[in-house]
Amino acid sequence: MSVLVVGSINADLTVRATRIPGPGETVLGGDTRTSPGGKGANGAVAAALAGAAVTLVGAVGKDAFSEVALSGLRRAGVNLSHLLTLDVSTGLALITVSDAGENAITVASGANARLTPQHLPEGFSAFTHLLLQQELPPEITLEAARRASAAGLSVLLNAAPTRDTAPALLRLTDHLLVNEHELAALAGDGFAGHGVVEVSARTLLGRGPRAVTVTLGGEGSLTVTAGETYRLPAHPVDAVDTTGAGDTFCGVLTARLAHGDDLEAALRWAGIAAALACTRPGAQDAMPAWAEVQQESSH
Ligand code: RIB
Ligand code: NA
Repeated sequence: MSVLVVGSINADLTVRATRIPGPGETVLGGDTRTSPGGKGANGAVAAALAGAAVTLVGAVGKDAFSEVALSGLRRAGVNLSHLLTLDVSTGLALITVSDAGENAITVASGANARLTPQHLPEGFSAFTHLLLQQELPPEITLEAARRASAAGLSVLLNAAPTRDTAPALLRLTDHLLVNEHELAALAGDGFAGHGVVEVSARTLLGRGPRAVTVTLGGEGSLTVTAGETYRLPAHPVDAVDTTGAGDTFCGVLTARLAHGDDLEAALRWAGIAAALACTRPGAQDAMPAWAEVQQESSH
């Protein structure tokens, strides 16, 4: 039961400020922190912390930021035998976190943007689950989904950040994960409030996935399949930094499905881990150890 992640690896440069500046505005922030991030690496670390054997296909550059970017993956024991080191910059994410715990992120993709389908390894059949996001060039993401699907893997796509998602990619996806904004962009109906979330999610079910999960921040998550609707309330926490919470959700969900949990149980674990990840600063640095998730679930 092992997980393959094909995704981005970044170093996150984060500054806290009372609020996120608008266009043309300067705000004075607090201390900076440099920590491991990238939606692909975040998902891989979250899955590994939840007990899965995880392999990440990704790339870093030949610069000092690569060490920061890889530190969390190494600590979590993610298999990096397919890691590429390219003669460009490591992916960097410039992040502002407001006192309200919200964030604004600009990603300079660096090495991530250089990945092509030729960089994919052979041997997809060694894995049971593939987790994808949308921070790599669409060609490699689509080809990874094709190979995974042909080899019988379950394909999970976190459609973040928002960009054109090829209909072919959706057709190859077994489980689609989006937040409300990504849902609105994909379903093409603009954000019209929680009442329409289920309707929009069901629209996306018609495009290929067998399950669609919408993460709703403080409102928990909603998952639809052909026959069922699962509404899971948020695990109550005091959020200080939500960066990477969605990635934590996706990684833990993938790990628990790979472990053999049923969908509802896997969603529950994912929700608890994502909530705990909001209580501390950083993305991977904030992810809970599995013992902490278990302890929290008994409360
Ligand atoms: O989802 C959070 C992540 O988005 C950050 O770690 C940053 O690197 C960007 O990829
Ligand atoms: Na966090």
